[in-house]
Amino acid sequence: MNKSGNDLPQPILNSQFSTLDSPLILGVETSCDETSVAVIDSEGRVLSNVIASQVDAHAKYGGVVPEVAARAHLENLPGTLDRALARSGLSLNNIDIVSATAGPGLIGALLVGLSAASALAFARGIPLVAVNHLEGHLFSAFLTPDGEPAREVTYPFHGLVVSGGHAELVRVEEDRVVPLARTRDDAPGEAFDKVARRAGLPYPGGPVIDRIAARSRGGGVALPIGRLGDGSKDFSFSGLKTAMLREFERRGVTGAKLDPEAIDSGLVDLFASFQRAIVDALLERVEAVHEAEGIERLALSGGVAANSELRARLAAWGEQRGVTVHLPARALTTDNAAMSAWAGWLRYRREGPQPRETISARSRWPLGS
Ligand code: KG4
Ligand code: ZN
Repeated sequence: MNKSGNDLPQPILNSQFSTLDSPLILGVETSCDETSVAVIDSEGRVLSNVIASQVDAHAKYGGVVPEVAARAHLENLPGTLDRALARSGLSLNNIDIVSATAGPGLIGALLVGLSAASALAFARGIPLVAVNHLEGHLFSAFLTPDGEPAREVTYPFHGLVVSGGHAELVRVEEDRVVPLARTRDDAPGEAFDKVARRAGLPYPGGPVIDRIAARSRGGGVALPIGRLGDGSKDFSFSGLKTAMLREFERRGVTGAKLDPEAIDSGLVDLFASFQRAIVDALLERVEAVHEAEGIERLALSGGVAANSELRARLAAWGEQRGVTVHLPARALTTDNAAMSAWAGWLRYRREGPQPRETISARSRWPLGS
């Protein structure tokens, strides 16, 4: 029992932590369909990064169902936290900062992780940092999965975040993120997932189509790259998706279950063309930004950053143009808490403690705001 007459430990003043030389950071991520908890140190070594995927729970619906996600986070979070601490060889008492994704994402899902993180930080009397999920992706390209310190983050750099919910091209300066282009409709991962679903392929569609496209021997069809007529650098993927649906109709692809290993070479080439069109669209905008303002370093991130063709072609582009391209480790491309911990620590180092009353879950939270 403490002085105030209850069993809760009293919060310790945040300011004492600014004197910590090498804090340990616990990250929590529950913005969509992965429940993840990680521990990193202040140099960005990933000490543990446990991800409990809900893919199976959502697969039968062909996409993420918000209520199912929130419930699964509630069930998975305690065990995920225990495993993350056990794997790092640490206990909660060793943790100095808690960093949780506060948005953008599914509000019910975000609330589970943020509330748990908030309770942990309060109970231990240590700072809580609210992290933007996209900022988490953005800086994930600097982390390594094998216990090495993170690569040095040198500003300014450009970031391309491509996931199931976002396509964002930004310039990152030391104290701000400047948005340069974003998608006006579907995100690239969403286009992969929707097209796969309409073809009867398993969810999530991105990795499935990636593997199918690798079997193509060339050929295929010309598909439209979404260009907006207003001179904007924004992305648009809905026209490409519609073109694919028309191709499916023409070829008698009805949406009945398809075995990815057993599809004919015509369809293999069609999926390869679709993937190529997405990568073309992304590279075209990167090139336009390079021409406009000169990219020195480009950090790729987000679930679609696992795509083989995107990684290979962006790396080749970087070599041609003399641009350093940071590709994230594949294990850190989809949602994970190591990235929340890392972005939270970078933010804390930059800005210091955030007042608790300013922290809340946000379903919308554009980068740079
Ligand atoms: O970042 P993420 O885990 O969640 C969001 O924040 O959206 O990204 C998930 C997305 C899904 O749409 C999935 O199909 C896509 O990333 N994805 C891929 C690949 N692996 C995952 N897309 C293309 N190629 C891949 N290899
Ligand atoms: Zn994500």
